[in-house]
Amino acid sequence: HSLHSLHTFALNSQCQNFVEITQLEQLKTQSFSAPFCLLGEGSNTVFLNDYMGTVIKIALKGIKITERESDTLISIAAGENWHQLVSYLLEENIPGLENLALIPGTVGASPVQNIGAYGVEIAKFVELVEYFDITTKTMDSLNNEQCEFAYRDSIFKNALKNKAVITQVHLALPKKWQPVLSYGPLQQLSSITPQAVFDQVIKTRNSKLPNPHTLANAGSFFKNPIITNQQLAELLKQFADLPHYEYGQSYHKVAAGWLIDQSGLKGHREAGIEVHQQQALVLVNHGNSEGSDLIKMIKHIQQVVYTRYNIMLEHEVRLMDARSECHINAETK
Ligand code: EPU
Repeated sequence: HSLHSLHTFALNSQCQNFVEITQLEQLKTQSFSAPFCLLGEGSNTVFLNDYMGTVIKIALKGIKITERESDTLISIAAGENWHQLVSYLLEENIPGLENLALIPGTVGASPVQNIGAYGVEIAKFVELVEYFDITTKTMDSLNNEQCEFAYRDSIFKNALKNKAVITQVHLALPKKWQPVLSYGPLQQLSSITPQAVFDQVIKTRNSKLPNPHTLANAGSFFKNPIITNQQLAELLKQFADLPHYEYGQSYHKVAAGWLIDQSGLKGHREAGIEVHQQQALVLVNHGNSEGSDLIKMIKHIQQVVYTRYNIMLEHEVRLMDARSECHINAETK
């Protein structure tokens, strides 16, 4: 089965088996004898090679809205499209998610890496995540705290990795709308309404992030590195413009896109893979590329950035090898 249209980076990989889950009951009879790979819309996963296992696409559908005293509870099946949900809620006059407009992918994938943009992370709204426990073959759930959310991270990438199939996400959206306008382009808004924030986020994203349907990509390819305050102070002596944001008391997050850009890598190519001109944190695939070209690209970026800034970039995108996930780390001298 071809994986080309099942992941937005669109390499020409194949998988041995492909299953689409549209009913909860299917999970009970599905074999999870390794290797298997859970997938939503494939916007944060790249299949580097042919996958020697079963790709299981979660396509459960359904949205339920429950009014409560001070908030609205939205219960969403994992296979719903994230951006469609954000638009639909706005039409229903249920604001809160507008900063997260246009993020590709499914609702079920959103808690896994705690999607975030323009000053908001989904962790802020998650009340409960329901999942099918692959080991016990029963349904279970985790509340917000138990999800162990952090920057682009959750329990689903750690202790529950390959052990849980997220089936439903329950979001609590406060009735009193509290806009988050800290991010640059949102500070310039003249009228502050959910629709205006939504429109501005879409305009900003469209100006620098390529649409995966027209130019294959997987969004931000690397995580913004988290470094100690001391390391930041050292770097700022030499690179005064390095964009940085507080992350707890002892750490700062720095902009990986800036590090790659300032290293002169915009437009760098390996076969059809290119560092995007408008946002250096995004890698695009013009076609005719292979997994090995992408690995070359990742290592090159890691090496150049490490040599210049002493920071090892970690890829944010999930990379699948023939049988399991893999992590690319360039050798450093
Ligand atoms: N920058 C450059 N050159 C570049 C790219 C960025 O100098 O080529 C600078 C920008 O000028 C800015 C800073 O780096 O000062 C940060 O850039 P930007 O605001 O575009 O955001 P980002 O940190 O690169 C993160 C998320 C995005 C999210 C935006 C907006 C990660 C890995 N990425 O990107 O998420 O949309 O913030 O909040 O945290 C994604 O995860 O796929 C994604 C697109």
